[in-house]
Parts: sequence; C-alpha cells; structure tokens
Amino acid sequence: MTASSLSFKLAVLFVIAGMAMGIGMAASQNHAIMPAHAHLNLLGWVSLFLFGIYYERRPALNASRMALIQVALWSVGTVIMTIAVAAIHLGYHAADPIAAISSIIVLAAMLMFAYFVFRPAPVAEASPNVRMTPAE
Ligand code: HEM
Repeated sequence: MTASSLSFKLAVLFVIAGMAMGIGMAASQNHAIMPAHAHLNLLGWVSLFLFGIYYERRPALNASRMALIQVALWSVGTVIMTIAVAAIHLGYHAADPIAAISSIIVLAAMLMFAYFVFRPAPVAEASPNVRMTPAE
C-alpha cells in the first residue's frame, strides 16, 4: 500500500469517528470533549488528507517505507491523543502523561514530514502531473 492511499483511508475513518463524536456532543448537549473532537478532525482528517495529497504528487516518496511509517506514526499519535484529551476533559487527569507522550509522537511524525519536505533529494520532487485536455 502507498502512503497516500493509507492516508486517505485512515483520514476518512477518522472524520467518520470525529463527526459521530460531534453529533454525540450536540445530541447530549455536553461539549466537554470538544477539544478531543477538534484534534481528531484536524489531525486525523485535515492534516492526514493533506499528507496524502503531498505524497500522491511524489510517486517515489509515496512508495517508500519511510512515508508509510510517517503516516502510521501520525495516526497512532492521533488516536492516543484523542483518547487522552477526551479523558482529561472528562476529569481523568491521570491521562495527562499519555497526552504528553502522544503529543511527542505526533511531533516526531511532523518532524519526519519536515525532513521529506526540506531534504534536497530527487525522491521528494513533485511529478509534473500535467494533464492535457484535447480541444473540442
Ligand atoms: C457531523 C459533523 C460535526 C458535528 C455534529 C460537530 C459538532 C461540534 C460541536 C457540538 C462542537 C462544540 C462547539 C462548542 O462547544 O462551542 C464542535 C467544535 C469543533 N469542531 Fe466540530 N462537528 C462536526 C464536524 C467537524 C469537522 C469535520 C471538523 C474539522 C474539519 C470540526 C472541527 C471542530 C473544531 C475545530 C471545533 C472547536 C471550535 C471551537 O473551538 O469553538 N468539526 N463541533
């Protein structure tokens, strides 16, 4: 599996969970876990989908194991952070260190992505991807 297809699949699963969480908050009129909902949607849906678009435009990077690891690390960090942030906002402050560890995991994944973006390697070059449309 390529990094982009893993990103898109996980992003869709995350947003379905995030939307269900939003509907649950709205229906119960209890917005206590709003920060967990916001992090799940923004890390799990928006950011992951953006990673997928970036990888899809760079076929060599997209097929690399490093990019797959970056997506997996980001996704694991997102799941742990969402659960920990929800627990904290429901009053379980013992989850504080888990939230801290998950934030380091997500930061590590973002540093990996920063490395892909900044390294001067042909593997990270965007493909021209020019689409020609025939004139009618
Ligand atoms: C079925 C879809 C969704 C429902 C029912 C829903 C519901 C909610 C609710 C009830 C809140 C709490 C508002 C408050 O307490 O002030 C909230 C906050 C938030 N939601 Fe959603 N949401 C949905 C989808 C999304 C998506 C797709 C995203 C991001 C792409 C998102 C991002 C946010 C953010 C960032 C906040 C925090 C806003 C703030 O700080 O005031 N939500 N949502």
